[in-house]
Amino acid sequence: MNAASFERDASAVPVITIDGPTASGKGTIAQRVADHLGWHALDSGALYRLTALAVRQAGGDGSDESQAAHLARQLDVQFGAGLIRLDGQDVTHLIRQEAIGNLASRVAAWPAVRTALLARQQDFRQMPGLVADGRDMGTVVFPDAPLKIFLDADVVVRAERRHKQLRDKGISANLDDLLNDLRLRDARDRDRAHAPLVAAADAMTIDSSHIGVDQVVDQVLDLWLDRRSAHGPA
Ligand code: DC
Repeated sequence: MNAASFERDASAVPVITIDGPTASGKGTIAQRVADHLGWHALDSGALYRLTALAVRQAGGDGSDESQAAHLARQLDVQFGAGLIRLDGQDVTHLIRQEAIGNLASRVAAWPAVRTALLARQQDFRQMPGLVADGRDMGTVVFPDAPLKIFLDADVVVRAERRHKQLRDKGISANLDDLLNDLRLRDARDRDRAHAPLVAAADAMTIDSSHIGVDQVVDQVLDLWLDRRSAHGPA
């Protein structure tokens, strides 16, 4: 298959992008929408978290762009059956730590890291469809996606949700610290020069501050049904 026909084939695969700030619930919602449609799911934040973990394991602190990009290019990752492996080691829970999330937000600001992860993310675009969540899914990685969602929620609500999630897992956390952390990460993700967190011009914004996961999932599926009937079957 030549490059042009590959491009045509990839663009025939429908993609729903769900971008939004940390702890807006986009990961859960993307997975639920993908399960409902029988599509693949891409948790792009996991790739940045895996890069951060690789940086930490190499003794780095995220301040060296070329080291982080090199590690991002070399990532030996396996996704499957709810598990994420790095170099064969199960890191599913490890990459969810707040410290790794913070380091991920730092390494994600480096353009060379973003370039290193771009093709890997686009490779997830396979039939019958893909639901991709992150910060730049609709703006940079899948700009031609037929449905783009920007999922927002008030920062205090997000901090409370994260606090509850951690408590449910038996991890103690201070709500004020979480709130400060989220504000810092929001600012870093929104203000960076490359692929900042921003709603694509053609994205539909859903504010989940006062509605639950089920309602957001229903809204996304309704939007997809409308889009599909307007443009013909996927
Ligand atoms: O979605 P998350 O919290 O797992 O993402 C962790 C960090 O990775 C986030 O703070 C910013 C970065 N990220 C990004 O820059 N671009 C993406 N598409 C996804 C995540």
